[in-house]
Amino acid sequence: MQEEHGSPTDRPCVSRRRFLLTSSGATVTSIVLASQFSKTGFGEELLAQVAAYERKKVASLRDLKVDTPAPIFYPFDATDLNSLAFIVKLGVPASGGVGPNSDIVAFNTLCTHVGGDLSGTDKTYLKEHKILGPCPLHLTTFDLRRHGMVVAGHATQSLPQVVLEADGNDIYATGILGLIYGKHDTAALPVVI
Ligand code: FES
Repeated sequence: MQEEHGSPTDRPCVSRRRFLLTSSGATVTSIVLASQFSKTGFGEELLAQVAAYERKKVASLRDLKVDTPAPIFYPFDATDLNSLAFIVKLGVPASGGVGPNSDIVAFNTLCTHVGGDLSGTDKTYLKEHKILGPCPLHLTTFDLRRHGMVVAGHATQSLPQVVLEADGNDIYATGILGLIYGKHDTAALPVVI
């Protein structure tokens, strides 16, 4: 399982492992992120959970253009609509970002409040601020540079982030950070960030 990702300067530091358990085919690890991008202050430790799924190629570096989100399905395939996610090259370093500039990130498209559909990324991705939203139901917005944390709105949990890994020209997904709406077995315990 991948536990660290992103650039050395911008990514959170996985400082210690808390738990390791198995849930419905996904290995779930609770980790502590010492993130300079925490909601509540610089350097504060945050408890987060990564559910590891099957490693799957989701994009090629050469095909990604800055500020142009592309749909992907992860952790499962197109028969599972809750797996609809998107990958985007932000053009600026991001927490959990991969690639030469640590700017490629991916997120699930279901709002963590009550499952609002954020998949219309031609409308919901705001390139000027690198945020997703507002959610069509209750207007939550999520910051894609900071692990999908809530910027404003009703949701209290970050948008689930697809854990990525760069291998040459290929980008692989290896897990999910956070709970996907409607998939209560994504992780076994609540997510704090
Ligand atoms: S469902 Fe998205 S803010 Fe309520």
